[in-house]
Amino acid sequence: MAIDSQQATTKICILISGNGSNLQALIDACDTPSLPSASIVRVISNRKDAFGLKRAEKAGIPTAYHNLLAYKKRHPATEEGIGAARSEYDKDLAALVMVDKPDMVVCAGWMHILAPTFLDPLESAGIPVINLHPALPGQFNGSRAIERAYAAAQEGKIDKTGVMVHYVISEVDMGEPILVREIEINKSDTLDELETRIHENEWQIIVQGTNTAIERLRTSSRPKATG
Ligand code: GRF
Repeated sequence: MAIDSQQATTKICILISGNGSNLQALIDACDTPSLPSASIVRVISNRKDAFGLKRAEKAGIPTAYHNLLAYKKRHPATEEGIGAARSEYDKDLAALVMVDKPDMVVCAGWMHILAPTFLDPLESAGIPVINLHPALPGQFNGSRAIERAYAAAQEGKIDKTGVMVHYVISEVDMGEPILVREIEINKSDTLDELETRIHENEWQIIVQGTNTAIERLRTSSRPKATG
């Protein structure tokens, strides 16, 4: 939904699955020079016990829990049945998101692969979907990216990993990068030390990447990715 550059704020809907430390970074950055024109209209979780829901409620942000299990119960536990359940789940998720008429969707620790039944209606409505991923473009797509980077470094295959914010397409973590930051992996690093360093960078990158995506939406131009 190309937005009028005079529009005061850009309405964002945030999808989460867990602790919500990146959501918190966005909440804390709203109405500051780091994220001057964003307002969070809803936080949606696919996990009922996600602590991020508590963070949103504390900040007075409406929340919703969208449960995949209910859809799986309506279909046989076959590959086809699970596929149908996920497709319906994503279609209803798109409808749930659209209720608030957001200008953009931010996946901040959202651990569910979004199907075309979610992405297509949002694309048709001009609502970009962006995601935070703890790896460099094309390096460790999918889950457990930090552990896999750490293992590869232990084997001497890599000496750096990174974090990125990218546009979401149906190919997992392969959408156009918006913001990419490289992170060194030191030989002496423990996995915990690397995770801590990555999360500290993520809290900055999720805010900068969201702000950049908002500016692009407001100027409806999409220049090259920046480091
Ligand atoms: C982050 O590391 C994110 O990159 C990954 O899941 C983690 C979520 O952390 N997809 P939080 O829930 O925002 O604290």
